[in-house]
Amino acid sequence: MLRFVTTNAGKVREAREYLDEEVTRLDFDYREVQADDLATVAADGARKAYEHAGEPVFVDDAGLFVDAFDGFPGPYSSYVEDTVGVERLWRLTEPEDDHGAAFRGVVAYCDGEEFAASPEPVDRDRRGQDQDADTRATATTDDQVADGDHPVKIFEGYVPGTIVPPRGEGGFGYDPIFEYDGRTFAEMSPEEKNAVSHRGKALAEFAEWYENADR
Ligand code: IMP
Repeated sequence: MLRFVTTNAGKVREAREYLDEEVTRLDFDYREVQADDLATVAADGARKAYEHAGEPVFVDDAGLFVDAFDGFPGPYSSYVEDTVGVERLWRLTEPEDDHGAAFRGVVAYCDGEEFAASPEPVDRDRRGQDQDADTRATATTDDQVADGDHPVKIFEGYVPGTIVPPRGEGGFGYDPIFEYDGRTFAEMSPEEKNAVSHRGKALAEFAEWYENADR
């Protein structure tokens, strides 16, 4: 059985579409590390959740990366949604020449076993703890990842699009202002969105590895 750490039952249903293994929701509230990339946040969450649950877990983390703002809000998307708000984020982008953006998402898996963890950026926090800056720049092999914290495998998904005035009633979060191929994510059915979304791609990669990997 696989435990998906999320408060969102819709995400669990979506994950079940990809994985043959039984997926159940794990309601585990933990303090997220602050980092400027999603994978570090997700990897830390996966380790904490594994230590809590003692069984195979995965977590996901996603964000909207606006080109004109050098990727902001990115890992801070949730905070910005709660403070600035989705419509005001669109207004901030309106005067810019470049309206490009992307959703990025990661799935991080941990089961406490030794496997070839994703070398970057999973080993970054460990390197930060116990090695000096010079070594940090060169330490990238899987062995160095695996002999410290629990190894974590990272799967990434990405979908490019455009920030537009809000349209559509479906979806959640930034969906109304994110246009892909002529429609906003909020104008698509869940199935249409999942087929192209960052989370759908990350889950598909994870499922392929999980079903085939020699763990
Ligand atoms: P989380 O990682 O799913 O908690 O999402 C972090 C932030 O990105 C929240 O503000 C979400 O609303 C937003 N977000 C993540 N995925 C999507 C998506 O597929 N559509 C719209 N907003 C999203």
